[in-house]
Amino acid sequence: MTNTLLAGKVVLITGASRGIGEAAARLFAQEGASVVLAARSTEALARLVTEIRAGGGTADALTLDLADRGSIRAAVDRVEELHGRLDGAFNNAAVVQQPGPLDQTTDDEIDEQFEVNFRAHWTAMTAEAALMRRHGGGAIVNTSSIGSRRANPVLPAYGAMKRALNSLTESAAVTWAREGIRVNGITPGGTATAMIDQWEAATPGVIAHITATSPVGRMAEPREVAEVAAWLLSDRASMVTGAIVPVDGGAGA
Ligand SMILES: NC(=O)c1ccc[n+]([C@@H]2O[C@H](COP(=O)([O-])OP(=O)(O)OC[C@H]3O[C@@H](n4cnc5c(N)ncnc54)[C@H](OP(=O)(O)O)[C@@H]3O)[C@@H](O)[C@H]2O)c1
Repeated sequence: MTNTLLAGKVVLITGASRGIGEAAARLFAQEGASVVLAARSTEALARLVTEIRAGGGTADALTLDLADRGSIRAAVDRVEELHGRLDGAFNNAAVVQQPGPLDQTTDDEIDEQFEVNFRAHWTAMTAEAALMRRHGGGAIVNTSSIGSRRANPVLPAYGAMKRALNSLTESAAVTWAREGIRVNGITPGGTATAMIDQWEAATPGVIAHITATSPVGRMAEPREVAEVAAWLLSDRASMVTGAIVPVDGGAGA
């Protein structure tokens, strides 16, 4: 698979048990990467590993809870045990909050948004970069959201943590650029996954609204988001770092 986009690369994917991360697992493996799949849902990961291996790819799974810093560091250690190095990391997992105005967002919700959607990326990137720099560098892609770009009165804690993640992404890119570590973010718009279904269940009509207000008239398929991450993780994006790339069908334009 030497002509593929991610040939020979070892790539860690968080949130690989479903949605965008699951699509990324399949795509990155097709593109020649050895993928290490991480999430809490061990059974879903095991099924995906079996599928990718059956297709001739290289895949392993590890259990990860992003709310636990020790779990994140152990995950990166496990990648080193498995492969001896790390070339790419797709820090994609996140949790959505209960929709509602900021004065009704609970302290527990704010804490979860901080731990899983922001602090986890800090811990993960630090561990990932430490392993990457021992073997000449690498590339990191963090999944943010279109919801980070403007006021987010409906998902205020989620929006705030995603915007903080954009800042951290840019800071890491500048800090590590001379070490050959590129760091970029992507901001998906509405994407057909369980996360949007969860939002729809809490706020009926939100999918119809996203679809109606999208310039392309539809939501993204998870694979379309994963494609952008694949390119950013590849050597073909060698001059791209510190970018926050919209993948939203023009919704943020
Ligand atoms: N779908 C959209 O419309 C949309 C729009 C903009 C941005 N995004 C972003 O895209 C990314 C992927 O979202 P998605 O739509 O694919 O969501 P999803 O289908 O709900 O998947 C979320 C993934 O994150 C994992 N996860 C959640 N909490 C975790 C934790 N504490 N520890 C480890 N893993 C955890 C889940 O696995 P387990 O539950 O098995 O742990 C799952 O694999 C997220 O960063 C999300 O904010 C999505």
